[in-house]
Amino acid sequence: PTSATRDDEGVLQIAGVPATDLRDRFGTPLYVVDEDEVRGHARRTLAAFRSATARHGVQARVYYAGKAFLCAEVVRWVTDEGLAVDVCTGGELAVALAAGADPARLGFHGNNKSVAELENAVDVGIGSIVLDSWIELERLAAILERRSVDDVRTQTVLVRVNSGIHAETHEFLATAHEDQKFGFTLEDAPAVVARIRELPALVFAGLHCHIGSQIFGTAGFLESAARIVELHATLLDGGDIPVLNLGGGFGIAYTSADDPTPIEELASGIVDAVARECEVRGIPMPNLAFEPGRAIVGQAGVTLYEIGTTKPVEIGAGAQRLYVSVDGGMSDNARPALYGADFSARIASRVSEAAPALVRVVGKHCESGDIVVDAEYLPDDVVPGDLLAVPATGAYCFSLASNYNYVPRPPVVAVRAGSARIIVRGVSLDDLLAHDAGLDKTPAFRG
Ligand code: LLP
Repeated sequence: PTSATRDDEGVLQIAGVPATDLRDRFGTPLYVVDEDEVRGHARRTLAAFRSATARHGVQARVYYAGKAFLCAEVVRWVTDEGLAVDVCTGGELAVALAAGADPARLGFHGNNKSVAELENAVDVGIGSIVLDSWIELERLAAILERRSVDDVRTQTVLVRVNSGIHAETHEFLATAHEDQKFGFTLEDAPAVVARIRELPALVFAGLHCHIGSQIFGTAGFLESAARIVELHATLLDGGDIPVLNLGGGFGIAYTSADDPTPIEELASGIVDAVARECEVRGIPMPNLAFEPGRAIVGQAGVTLYEIGTTKPVEIGAGAQRLYVSVDGGMSDNARPALYGADFSARIASRVSEAAPALVRVVGKHCESGDIVVDAEYLPDDVVPGDLLAVPATGAYCFSLASNYNYVPRPPVVAVRAGSARIIVRGVSLDDLLAHDAGLDKTPAFRG
């Protein structure tokens, strides 16, 4: 987080809270999230898209993509700052609602929403459902028919289309090339929209597309916007389509090697491109919606670990690599194992004058791919007991966490103005053992 500084003893502080205090109060590993930074990114992102769209006389709505990191407090922070929320399962919807989010400002994604999930979304009055398949379209229409007793119950829907763009990112993070599971093709979309327009219960509000995640350049967004506006134009049919949702995917810096485009520049680049495409086609500019997740929470998070062992390993040609093991790993941050993602690390409990040594930070799991930071310089006097901070873990770390190897799940602590509080409790070993039915003491089981 930008609030990270060193105190007089050289201890890392986050929003004025020393890392050593956090360890003493909450233990390690620990997810720490800077509330003001999340709020700041939310405000800045909303302002960027609002001012970009205002120049063209239309509005912008920014949905926070909850999959990046969802819990009640985060829902409150982002909605408080004026964001809507995008959920993609019944579980995420339940969190957003329990936290008090206005259902009308929620969008519901997903390629396999169940009947129960759709019924619940309709019943709570969700703002929009993003349709992903023909089966879902008919499923939703049938639900609305069942719900339409005296009056026709209607539901606002968007249609997710796959713009066919190969986003320049990890293969697993790209979502709009042809051979993947999300959305309708550009070719099928007109028939889908035509079908929706036949059904009085479904209100077509616009198209949706999302090309992938952790994208740095603007080129993919601009190309995708051009294709989607072209489709949008063909669907107008003399009428109005109120919104165009262009998804999220805005990249952040994980290490000093990363140089993402500032959100203001991205926002005006994308919005101006849509405006140009509309002008060329002589059509009115729709309101725009966006769904950033990572860009709101990613850099606001930092994970604290305690170093447990260090070990020099011969790696051939007389060279050595120092392996530094921490007390978590792929259970609290699966991203290096899943995507080869890069992170950085710093000793948080002290500063050292020792020479930098190239190390590999690894976790405590039974896999050699359990890497936290593949290559990092740490002072060569690094010892067990040192605290290690890994920044930029606010997005897709807690949300992808597991209990692999029965490693307890860390709590999430929010820091603000010198104080810290738990916003998500950890999952303890006792919690895990309580799920093991083989430990039930009942005679029936033992029988
Ligand atoms: N909208 C839709 C429809 C999405 O599928 C996603 C992300 C987003 C918005 C938000 O994307 P963001 O702004 O956060 O990039 N676990 C991976 C990322 C998976 C993203 C899935 N969809 C990772 O750790 O990098």
